[in-house]
Amino acid sequence: MTQKVRKAVLPVAGLGTRFLPATKAMPKEMLTVVDKPIIQYVVEEALEAGIEEFVFVTGRGKTSIENHFDRPYELLDILEKKQKHDIIDKVEHIMPTNTKLYYTRQGQPLGLGHAIGCAASVIGDEPFAVLLPDVVACTGDNNPTADAIKLYEETGKSVVVANEVPMERVKNYGVLNLGKEGLTDDKAEVTGFVEKPSPEEAPSNLAILGRYVLTPRHMEILPSIKPGAGNEIQLTDAIDQVTKEEGCMGSVFRGQHFDCGDKVGFQMANLYFALRDDYIGPRLLPYLQATADKTNRRNTPRVA
Ligand code: G1P
Repeated sequence: MTQKVRKAVLPVAGLGTRFLPATKAMPKEMLTVVDKPIIQYVVEEALEAGIEEFVFVTGRGKTSIENHFDRPYELLDILEKKQKHDIIDKVEHIMPTNTKLYYTRQGQPLGLGHAIGCAASVIGDEPFAVLLPDVVACTGDNNPTADAIKLYEETGKSVVVANEVPMERVKNYGVLNLGKEGLTDDKAEVTGFVEKPSPEEAPSNLAILGRYVLTPRHMEILPSIKPGAGNEIQLTDAIDQVTKEEGCMGSVFRGQHFDCGDKVGFQMANLYFALRDDYIGPRLLPYLQATADKTNRRNTPRVA
């Protein structure tokens, strides 16, 4: 019997430089995809997967994340007086009341491994999920955190969720080494991991997606991890080391998801969710189609 995965670590200390100036005074995790901040999608995925306690590893200028998950008494009072019950529903239940939230600061930006290590005392001797908030998954039938927890429960091993990327992009990710066996039913025993390899060094094109379930051993190992790729303390290096001791499972996620840490992925996420919204979708689609047509016409050379 494995221990239940109740806790999740969400590292939210990143500076969001790719989105400047939008992120000059606002956390990148609070940028909105339609009408919810990115971080809320990620928290909803974790809640749906059964997470009961969240550790947010924050940094300077991130207090709006704490405020977002707080109960907004004054706002609720005003909305109550105005009888705006539909809006009350949207703000009241963002976080179930029995969920525990912890905020801890990463004093220095020393890398993802260091950030996760900052949550060690709250995690204690339990397996835990890690969700990198840049990735927004379209949950429901396809919840990568829920899939990872299920595989952890079946195997008792850590699980790293991955997706296939073109070989020329592996240098942006942690990459799985599957050894000789390869994938069965989109799952595999992983023999090791490499953080941000060149295409020539990459053991596969399976890139770490940003969803993990890790055994408590990772928290013991993290303080001893030396700076690696980019001179940062890498979570991938800790996982690679624990894999050699305990084994590890890789699981390929084929559901729809967006890298909202990238401007293109962020815009795609907005379009995807907007088109599925009952109010916005039918109004936006004709505009998008007309704009696409016009852009196409402009870009197509005229025949003389
Ligand atoms: C981090 C991880 C990397 C993973 C990626 C997913 O890298 O270190 O292994 O593939 O997230 O987005 P970062 O994006 O912080 O450079």
